[in-house]
Amino acid sequence: MNAIKKITVKAPGKLMVMGEHAVVYGYPCIVTAIHKHITAEVEIIEAHIDQYETPDVTDQRFIRSALKLFKDTYQIDTCLKLTTKSELGTYGLGSSAATVVATIKALAVLFGKNLSDKEVFDLSYRVVLTIQGKASGFDIAASMYGGTIYFNGKTKEVIPLTRDTLPLLAAFSGVKADTVSLIEMIKQKRENYKKGVDAIFENIEKLVIEAKRAMEEKDWKRVGMLMNYNQNYLEDLGVSTDRLNTLISAAIKGGAWGAKLSGAGGGDCMIALVPMEKKNDVVEAIKEVGGEILDIASSVNGVSRVTMF
Ligand code: MEV
Repeated sequence: MNAIKKITVKAPGKLMVMGEHAVVYGYPCIVTAIHKHITAEVEIIEAHIDQYETPDVTDQRFIRSALKLFKDTYQIDTCLKLTTKSELGTYGLGSSAATVVATIKALAVLFGKNLSDKEVFDLSYRVVLTIQGKASGFDIAASMYGGTIYFNGKTKEVIPLTRDTLPLLAAFSGVKADTVSLIEMIKQKRENYKKGVDAIFENIEKLVIEAKRAMEEKDWKRVGMLMNYNQNYLEDLGVSTDRLNTLISAAIKGGAWGAKLSGAGGGDCMIALVPMEKKNDVVEAIKEVGGEILDIASSVNGVSRVTMF
C-alpha cells in the first residue's frame, strides 16, 4: 500500500497574449500564466468507486478523463477522492487545462511516477484533445511552466520570455465563449477558403515573432501596437464581437498601448497593455462601457505542490 495518502497541487490559469486560433494550426503564440489558480487534491480512499468534490468545475469531463487516462496508463485500480478549488471563475482563464495539469501532476506524485515536464504535458494534452477534439495545448504549457512563454504550436516547444509581471489589464465581456464552436467555425472557414485563412495565420505568426522580440527588449509600446494588428486579423477571421470591440476601443481611447480579445473570441476576456500612468484612465474607460475589470497579474510559477500528508 502507498505510504503517502494525499497530495495537493496548484496550477495557474492563463491569458492568451497573441496568436490564438493560428496556434491550433501549428503557428506560435505568446501566453502568460496568471496569479489565480486551480488547486487539486487527490486522496487514496477505501471505497469501490472514485469520488469527486469539484464544486467550481463546470465541466467535470476534464478531471474524470485525466483520472481515467492516468489510471489506464499506469494500471492503477486504487480508489481516489478528487477535490478541486478554483480561483479562476468562468471567465475563460484556462480552468480546464489548469485542472487537468494539477490533477495529472498530483497523481504522478501520489503514485511515485517521476514524470518529466514533457510527460505531464503529453498526458494532459491527450486529455484535452479527447474532450475538445482540436486544441493547441498552449494553456497546458502556461499552466505547467508559469511566466510568459512563447509556445510553438507545431513542436509544442516552450521558450520562456519573461517572469516579470506584464503591464496587462484584463476585462470580462460579460459573455461566456464557446471555444469548441469557435474552433469549429475557423475550421469550416479554412475548409471553404484555405488560402485566405492561411494567409491571415501567416501574418499573425509574423506579429507573434515580432512581439517576442519586442517583449525580450521590454518595448511595451511596440508589443501594444502588434496586439492591435493581431486584433484586426481576429476581426477578419470573424471571432471578435461588437461587445469586445467596444471594450477594446475604450481601452485604446483611455491610453492603452494596445488591446485585443484574448482566447477563442465570441466573448470571454479582452486584454490591454497599459502604461502605468494611464492605468486608472484605462480602467475607468473600460468600466464606463460596461466591462468587468478582472483582478489579474502574471504569475511567476507554473504547477507546484502545495502539501503532502
Ligand atoms: C482558445 O483559448 C485559444 C485557441 O487558440 C484554441 C487553442 O489554442 O487551443 C482558439
